[in-house]
Amino acid sequence: MDALECIKGRRSVREFKDTPVSNEVLESVIDTARFAPSWKNTQISRYVALTGDSKKALADTAFEAWIGNANIVNNAPMVIVQTFVKNRSGFERDGSFSTSKEDRWQNYDCGIAAEAFCLAAYEKGLGSVIMGIFDEDKVAKVLNLSEDQGVAAIIAIGYPVAEAAAPKRKEVSDLLTYLS
Ligand SMILES: Cc1cc2nc3c(=O)[nH]c(=O)nc-3n(C[C@H](O)[C@H](O)[C@H](O)COP(=O)(O)O)c2cc1C
Repeated sequence: MDALECIKGRRSVREFKDTPVSNEVLESVIDTARFAPSWKNTQISRYVALTGDSKKALADTAFEAWIGNANIVNNAPMVIVQTFVKNRSGFERDGSFSTSKEDRWQNYDCGIAAEAFCLAAYEKGLGSVIMGIFDEDKVAKVLNLSEDQGVAAIIAIGYPVAEAAAPKRKEVSDLLTYLS
């Protein structure tokens, strides 16, 4: 697939067929996503794949703030919790912050990695949606996550039921400013 087609054609997908996502396909997606750039090549993003009971436990506990995301998780054959190794991206070796953005480069890196993941998934015929509304502590509990890891996002993946329409985009002139 052509890169422009991949970037422009990817949509957030919230309804999936029952067809499972094989480990082989998932691993090929992560094989691509791992080439995303990161702060000093720290590569902090991790992926925990949930199906079956663990996925149900996530849907049942982590989305009190918005039931819509629980419905997506229940409907998807597989859900990826994107976690990250804390205190590396944006940090000096002595533990101090490298810049005034303090620890926010961690989330920046995870965002880049998540987009690379979703584009690679799209190229494999998979639909995906990144979800940001969840109870972080409850997600960490379902995963039994260690203290040195944080939760970045939840990504539902599966084979799409239908092609999703593209939400309207701003014009280039709304986004771009030239200074000389
Ligand atoms: C950081 C982030 C958080 C998001 N959180 C949610 C969410 O909690 N639930 C949801 O259904 N979609 C969520 N989305 C998907 C956006 O709504 C979607 O990307 C946007 O409407 C543009 O649509 P498109 O992805 O089809 O181009 C999120 C997207 C991003 C990047």
